[in-house]
Amino acid sequence: MRKVTKAVIPAAGFGTRFLPATKAVPKEMIPIVDTPTIQYIVEEAVNSGIKDILIITGRGKDAIMNHFDNSFELETVLERENKTELLKAVREVSQMVDVHFIRQKEQKGLGHAVSYAKQFAAGEPIAVMLGDDVVVNDKKPCLKQMIDKYEELGGSILGVQTVDHSQVSKYGIVDGEKISDRTYKVNSLVEKPRPEDAPTDVAILGRYIITPGIFECLERTPKGAGGEIQLTDALFLLAEHEPVYAYDFEGKRYDVGNKMGFLQATVEFALRREDLRDEFSEYLKNLNAQL
Ligand code: UTP
Repeated sequence: MRKVTKAVIPAAGFGTRFLPATKAVPKEMIPIVDTPTIQYIVEEAVNSGIKDILIITGRGKDAIMNHFDNSFELETVLERENKTELLKAVREVSQMVDVHFIRQKEQKGLGHAVSYAKQFAAGEPIAVMLGDDVVVNDKKPCLKQMIDKYEELGGSILGVQTVDHSQVSKYGIVDGEKISDRTYKVNSLVEKPRPEDAPTDVAILGRYIITPGIFECLERTPKGAGGEIQLTDALFLLAEHEPVYAYDFEGKRYDVGNKMGFLQATVEFALRREDLRDEFSEYLKNLNAQL
């Protein structure tokens, strides 16, 4: 079985839920505390054993490229001023992993974005990671859990968790049979169903391991929900040819593509930081007393 060493991060969306910030700043560069959301995703990939990352970008997304590049002038200044911790942080980002970029020329949907990864995948399975979902698991990163599942089962793996029934229309929803603890074999998939039409509340949450057969399926996928070429629809076609599984990953997931999820992540990540925890929790306690 081919090992999963490549990850694709689609980041070409307009980020309309974060306008006006995303007019000039890519949504993926909006920081949680002091780190852009896309860096958390790249760190999860690296900590899961990924060696190469392809970021699908679009117009107005150059800041993402700059973030993962060397910054010679900045490093020189930090070195001269003996700011070693900051220098380390800045250097680490550019040295973490090989990051490649390709532009999606028209925003025709997530499935269309992933089809740009065909050459990069070169016949190997790929991880697909969406920046809207940041998952915290201090023991084993979400993606590593999924790679382990892939190595056990040998088919595509969709990262899922159960969501509130009222929320199903935001996600791809899985209908399947449970084959073991936390694992389902997928029978059908539906993108963004109305709650009354949803077969289950098991939602795909921004993490996938996908076998190379997906690219041929993407070519055959017509426009779906929202007039976009949906990855979920292509995965459903794939499931007709080969087994596709869903894995209920362990970890706290933040929907940072939405304002409420983003605020929760900001507060909780700050509380996990040693340099901020005491002062910030004191502030929150005082604030709470005033509410
Ligand atoms: P979303 O549906 O969250 O869209 O895309 P968005 O533009 O990022 O954000 P909103 O909803 O307008 O606020 C899901 C993922 O698919 C990528 C997005 O970048 C995001 O990671 N995507 C979507 C593309 O790469 N290309 C597309 O054409 C559409």
